[in-house]
Amino acid sequence: MTKNVVWHEGKVTRQMRNELLGYENRVVWFTGLSGSGKSTLAVEVEKKLHEKGILAFILDGDNIRHGLNSDLGFSKEDRKENIRRVAEVAKLFYEAGVYVLVSFISPFRSERDYARKLIGKDFVEVFVSCPLEECMKRDPKGMYEKAKKGLIKEFTGVDSPYEEPLNPEIVVDTSKEEISQSVKKILDCILPQSLS
Ligand code: ADX
Repeated sequence: MTKNVVWHEGKVTRQMRNELLGYENRVVWFTGLSGSGKSTLAVEVEKKLHEKGILAFILDGDNIRHGLNSDLGFSKEDRKENIRRVAEVAKLFYEAGVYVLVSFISPFRSERDYARKLIGKDFVEVFVSCPLEECMKRDPKGMYEKAKKGLIKEFTGVDSPYEEPLNPEIVVDTSKEEISQSVKKILDCILPQSLS
């Protein structure tokens, strides 16, 4: 598909943008069940990074499905495309020097590995662990209830699989930790040394 298209090189590199801003950026990828707390944590981490003078930006599954990915549903193929697109967007933001926080269920290992490969050494996977029963109890959007009744099909954890990460850089357990504890754990790991 990239036939007859040639990459055009610029004169400003990511490293030059990092020097301009004064820190190195990363892509922090939050994965976990719906209701596990991914977006809650991403919002808190984004706020802390901003307060430290770091340009950060969240790519959130629910939000991106309103726009760029509004043509996608929840079949395996669509979820794959969902992650392929957000990984590409994350890579663009990464090249721009922005601290990217991706908050998507991203249930398949192969797709998360694809994103990891695309980004490279600065990819940080955060497994937001929370037992399914607890997520179902929280059910902030009432979606588990609908899924159990069969009103929503292919719901992750109900009738669509979630593959836990095997080697994530960070694991937080939101059923046992306070939000502030999980946020601290993440920040301790991701903050650029010059700013920690
Ligand atoms: S992913 O699996 O493709 O990575 P994504 O993070 O973009 O999912 O979107 C998940 C959000 O979509 C959930 O927070 C939930 O609000 C909503 N949603 C609607 N239908 C489903 C479904 N069948 N499975 C999971 N989430 C769903």
